[in-house]
Amino acid sequence: MPTASRRSTSKRVVDAKLTGSEAAPAAATVADPPATDSLPQLRSAAASCRACPLWRTGTQTVFGEGGEHAALMVVGEQPGDREDMEGHPFVGPAGRLLDKALEASNVPRDEVYITNAVKHFKWEPRGKRRIHKTPAQREIEACLPWLEAELAAVEPRVILCLGATAARAVMGGKVRVTETRGQPLHSPLGKEVVITVHPAYILRLRSGMEEAFAVFVDDVGQAAKLAGLK
Ligand code: URA
Repeated sequence: MPTASRRSTSKRVVDAKLTGSEAAPAAATVADPPATDSLPQLRSAAASCRACPLWRTGTQTVFGEGGEHAALMVVGEQPGDREDMEGHPFVGPAGRLLDKALEASNVPRDEVYITNAVKHFKWEPRGKRRIHKTPAQREIEACLPWLEAELAAVEPRVILCLGATAARAVMGGKVRVTETRGQPLHSPLGKEVVITVHPAYILRLRSGMEEAFAVFVDDVGQAAKLAGLK
């Protein structure tokens, strides 16, 4: 979708370039990406996004990375602890499992674009640890313009959603991952979509991990095939 029409269809209430406490709204509003299809410019603007309160506790915005015009865009939930510290998506344990699945599907990681529905880490303290918290709907909505901007810049053929938060952002409402996984779907964002589980879910399983990984690889392969990568 061209940038101009993308910007004209959504409500924009926050200037993404505002910085400091003066720009911090009490509740989530909506991000306002600059009118550009340049990923470096979008990444730089997103670094100072204050559209929802998660910027206060996240170390940094973790923007998407990968093939500039990748046929396949992988969308996760939000950066985790590791990603928050390093500033790159899917570089922790879940990312390593995603890498293994891409490798098993013969899809080089640098040929896909990898991002998240929410671009700040949401967490709560437990002792010295930072425990992941699922983002709220208002935080998903606040961040959606960044995902729309990434879609307009990259123009992938297919989106692979990892887990319920990504599916909710991309499909525009609540989606049951177990009922929809692996099937070709169409998103209101104008893209073909495949939904699968989040790799962190597989890592948490106490049994049946290998089988769950094999089905995950099938879903990744299905998305890659739909994108014309195999
Ligand atoms: N989980 C996600 O959803 N995204 C990341 O970048 C890392 C872990």
